[in-house]
Amino acid sequence: MIHLDYTNMMSPPIEGGITTDEWRDIGRRFSDAHASVDKLYAEGVLGFLDLPADKALHAQTTNFVRSVRERDGAGALTDVVVLGIGGSALGPIALRTALRPPQWNLLSEEARGGQPRLHVLDNVDPANITSLLDRLDLHRALFIVISKSGGTAETMAQYLVVRGRLDAALGRKGARQRLVFVTDPKKGALRTIANAEGIPALDIPPNVGGRFSVLTPVGILPAALIGIDTGALLAGAGRMRDRCRSATLGENIAGAFAALQYLADSRHHRPIQVLMPYSDALRDMADWFVQLWAESLGKHREPGDAGVGPTPLGALGATDQHSKVQLFMEGPPDKTVTFIGVEQGIPAVEIPRLHTDVPELAYLGGHQLGELLDIERRATAGALARRGRPNMTLTLERVDPGHVGELMIFLEIATAYAGQLYGVNAYDQPGVELGKQFTYAMLGRADAEQARQEWNLLPKSDPAHVI
Ligand code: PA5
Repeated sequence: MIHLDYTNMMSPPIEGGITTDEWRDIGRRFSDAHASVDKLYAEGVLGFLDLPADKALHAQTTNFVRSVRERDGAGALTDVVVLGIGGSALGPIALRTALRPPQWNLLSEEARGGQPRLHVLDNVDPANITSLLDRLDLHRALFIVISKSGGTAETMAQYLVVRGRLDAALGRKGARQRLVFVTDPKKGALRTIANAEGIPALDIPPNVGGRFSVLTPVGILPAALIGIDTGALLAGAGRMRDRCRSATLGENIAGAFAALQYLADSRHHRPIQVLMPYSDALRDMADWFVQLWAESLGKHREPGDAGVGPTPLGALGATDQHSKVQLFMEGPPDKTVTFIGVEQGIPAVEIPRLHTDVPELAYLGGHQLGELLDIERRATAGALARRGRPNMTLTLERVDPGHVGELMIFLEIATAYAGQLYGVNAYDQPGVELGKQFTYAMLGRADAEQARQEWNLLPKSDPAHVI
């Protein structure tokens, strides 16, 4: 079970924190936000809420994984490569880091229990892609091409590069066996190619947007292929979904998180919202959250207005105590920090009692490394509170599939509530469109004539301003 302790967001103890009156008022607004989310759900917009209970969709993954193991033989697959970007890549990365042993891709086959490595491209940097492809045994690799729209330029470029290599090395028939697509059930170029060539393709339900799709085959397929218990992941998400049914703020953990962040931004001028796990396993969860929160909430309420939205920032404890925490403590008072702590399942590593005559080392001996990490989290939260810097703490009992499922859907549901509180549509991303159109124009895409004209009107680089 996940808990949220928001004592250090409130006044008292935090001078300038959220007051009892503000909390009462936001409670009323939250009931409306909750009703609006329920209405959107009833209209079929919020498909991500159905995913924990969607047995048929989960079966698409488990059946496919079984068929690959039967065809190739158990343990034959050495590498799984996800081609995708944004919401089609960050979820698989976060799941791998959280739920597989550290440095999974560097472990021996034996240490991985015969499960494959998992690589996620998430970009089109040629150095990274060629370095990976050059070292893979293509006969023992599986490429998962993930795109909800089925036409994202970066993902299609990744696919074309991989497909060229596969066709050349294995022939067209052999290439098809090393591919699986995850995309819209009916629409888009990937679905068309899958249908034409008989390439297996798993579904992203039409009413689940990219950054809300981690519990579809987008995250579930790569996770299952590397041996993560996806049933437990979905069950955990289902438990959290049930915990977030109440319209009463004090009973709805995702509602409380969203309301606290919204109040901190809108009433207390704290738009920068940091997520700081004290656990290497959860470090990539911060990146996943940053995309979810930023792309969902940063937008115009009305066309042409100044725009609203918090600025999410990822950090890692204790590492960033030697970096960003200086800014959090003494920089502009425009931030909230949400710590993530883990209670159990932490490997016991005792710090040896060596150099007992050296005071700078002696006090450490006999403590556990995990204890040090947790004490540092509490110390940092306390230090921020002491300086009047609001912070809160999410506590996970342990980092296992159930709790990770809880955490991810908790943040998704909080995003849905925050969208209502900010008064924005959390499920679109019109702001990324113009840059895409300019890219199409420069690459000579046939339907980008208007963008080409707009691009040509833009001021060009002025040599007087280039040093
Ligand atoms: O959250 C989103 O919708 C986006 O970040 C998408 O995931 C990203 O643009 C990739 O889109 P697609 O899955 O259609 O290739």
